[in-house]
Amino acid sequence: MENYAKLWLNYSEKKNNKDCSALKQFVFSGAFTSDKIIENAKKELLLGIKGMLRIEPEIAVEGTAVDPSGLKRELTSGSKIADSEEYSISINNESINISSGSSTGILYGVFNILRTIACEKDVKKEFESGKTFRPSNPLRMLNHWDNMDGSIERGYSGKSFFYVNNEIVIDERTVFYARLIASVGINAVVINNVNVKQAASYMITDRYFEKLAELGEIFAGYGIGLYLSLNYASTIEIGGMDSADPLNEGVKAWWKEKMAEVFAKIPTLKGFLVKADSEGRPGPFTYGRTQADGANMLADIAKEYGAIIIWRCFVYNCRQDWRDKKTDRARAGYDNFMPMDGDYHDNVILQIKNGPMDFQIREPISPLFGGLKATNQMLEVQIAQEYTGQQIDVCYLIPMFKEILGFKTYAKDTDDTVADIISGKTFNSRFSGIAAVTNTGNDFNWTGNYLAGANLFGFGRLAFDTGLESAEIAEEFIRMTISSDDSVVNTIKEILLPSRAVYEKYTCPLGIGWMVTPATHYGCSVDGYEYDRWGTYHRADHLGIGVDRTDKGTGYALQYNEPNASIYNSPEKCPDELVLFFHHLPYTHVLHSGKTVIQHIYDVHFEGYDEAVKLAQKWDTLKGRVDDGIFENVSERFKRQLFNAKEWCDQVNSYFYRKSGIEDEKGREIF
Ligand code: GCU
Repeated sequence: MENYAKLWLNYSEKKNNKDCSALKQFVFSGAFTSDKIIENAKKELLLGIKGMLRIEPEIAVEGTAVDPSGLKRELTSGSKIADSEEYSISINNESINISSGSSTGILYGVFNILRTIACEKDVKKEFESGKTFRPSNPLRMLNHWDNMDGSIERGYSGKSFFYVNNEIVIDERTVFYARLIASVGINAVVINNVNVKQAASYMITDRYFEKLAELGEIFAGYGIGLYLSLNYASTIEIGGMDSADPLNEGVKAWWKEKMAEVFAKIPTLKGFLVKADSEGRPGPFTYGRTQADGANMLADIAKEYGAIIIWRCFVYNCRQDWRDKKTDRARAGYDNFMPMDGDYHDNVILQIKNGPMDFQIREPISPLFGGLKATNQMLEVQIAQEYTGQQIDVCYLIPMFKEILGFKTYAKDTDDTVADIISGKTFNSRFSGIAAVTNTGNDFNWTGNYLAGANLFGFGRLAFDTGLESAEIAEEFIRMTISSDDSVVNTIKEILLPSRAVYEKYTCPLGIGWMVTPATHYGCSVDGYEYDRWGTYHRADHLGIGVDRTDKGTGYALQYNEPNASIYNSPEKCPDELVLFFHHLPYTHVLHSGKTVIQHIYDVHFEGYDEAVKLAQKWDTLKGRVDDGIFENVSERFKRQLFNAKEWCDQVNSYFYRKSGIEDEKGREIF
């Protein structure tokens, strides 16, 4: 028995599809090379079909491409990646045909068939008339914030399964992990924390090459590219130099030599992720250079190896004075990166967090989306629930990601949503995609709360197909991992789907964010960050609350294209859910909902707690109807969630009652 759950790859026996004769015969066809990925695709298909249907299919492989080994590494553009990963499934003469221009496409086809069977859909009906699938995004990436000592920054599911005591561990779980994420369409993975310190700085030295090469091979066998987070100041920290100035010839020469070594030793390596000039990490600003100078220097050298540099836009002043109302952290991304739009070289991708702050339960969309027009862009979201319940509170994030993707930026007349931009379509970008800070660890169930697995599963599914609906994805997750009993499926859907809205209700109101316990970020502390240096303020006093980010305040609202800028700039037009992000308003201000700000705060907090109680009660009805281990795990989390929700509700309501002196219209108990 493994020491990890098999989640959606459990391949337990299914009752349907048993009489589908087509499932006995498969053909893989197309212009692909028969390689390790095809071998793995065959293995997976046999394992899955045998497990679920108790039959052993025959598989014919008819790849027609020439073996490209020996060819020079080429920088393949995003649209080419997406083209090659496209696949079709059809049923011909009682056999199932999966065809693609790449072995990865074939593998995705296999996982699609297996998912269809696992969800107990009729394979024949699904594919009778043939279907083609093309990934919405070229890069679909997971970012691990795993440290080499085994800890995980913002990890809520145990320790790292990549590292123990500064060594890389490769075992059965590693291979299972590759299968798990490939099965939902992930094609890229960064295996170390963006804060590259201590041992991690030595990843690009011979101390780790052998293991990294091995790991890279495992991932490559599932169509997953390996990426490393890089210490921008490697020249100093491991090179013994006294500079990391991107325009310094000695610095460039060091990187040239280093990259030649790294790419020779880790042939599958696809590139690097860099957090520079952020939260104490070194960067080009130290030398009076721009972010583009830093990114381009590395990218120019990496290009020779067909590699890319993913450069994060999370650059802001984290040593602010809370008394200073002019400096606005929300502005920083745009202010630091917009002026160089067009200057970033073609193998640089800017990785942009969904909001201008930091993964709050509600934020506006970063104005860099729709601002940048001549730069490769990638969206960064966080499925590690740092600010959204830490895998204690249930918070299904896919509805939030759908909102983000659907946001209209007005960068162009058509095809201007965030989804369009990151697909590469809007600006015909060379590279683009989506990354999630992942939520996995070595806990038995991978994600701490079993239901948080829906975010890992869902992120991959959504990254591959941004058109999928949250409910569809939730249903697949439940059917594949928990139960195919319709009433169980519906009950769990009724828990997952509203869970983000519930979490938002009992935590920070109207887009203001924060109010969390400093450092740990779990639990309520309304003033926790109010008099601190991080630029995360609510500015509440006895009359009102919110941050003035209008033209009369910090001017952040004007970073958006019209009409978004005018909408956000006006307290009358701004949507309620973001109104305190953009405006400082009196407690008596009347929202679109017809409620005052203060009454809204009271109402949503009481409702949020009550609704959390109802979610927990729904879960209780599943006792004996789902696996005991899963039942107990989620029940235990719900107990902690309810405690947390009660604290948030009572603390937020008491805080604002005491500040404002305004009674709750409904006379409920406030302390
Ligand atoms: C957040 C998080 C940090 C992380 C940072 C980042 O601020 O709390 O732990 O390092 O984001 O995205 O780099």
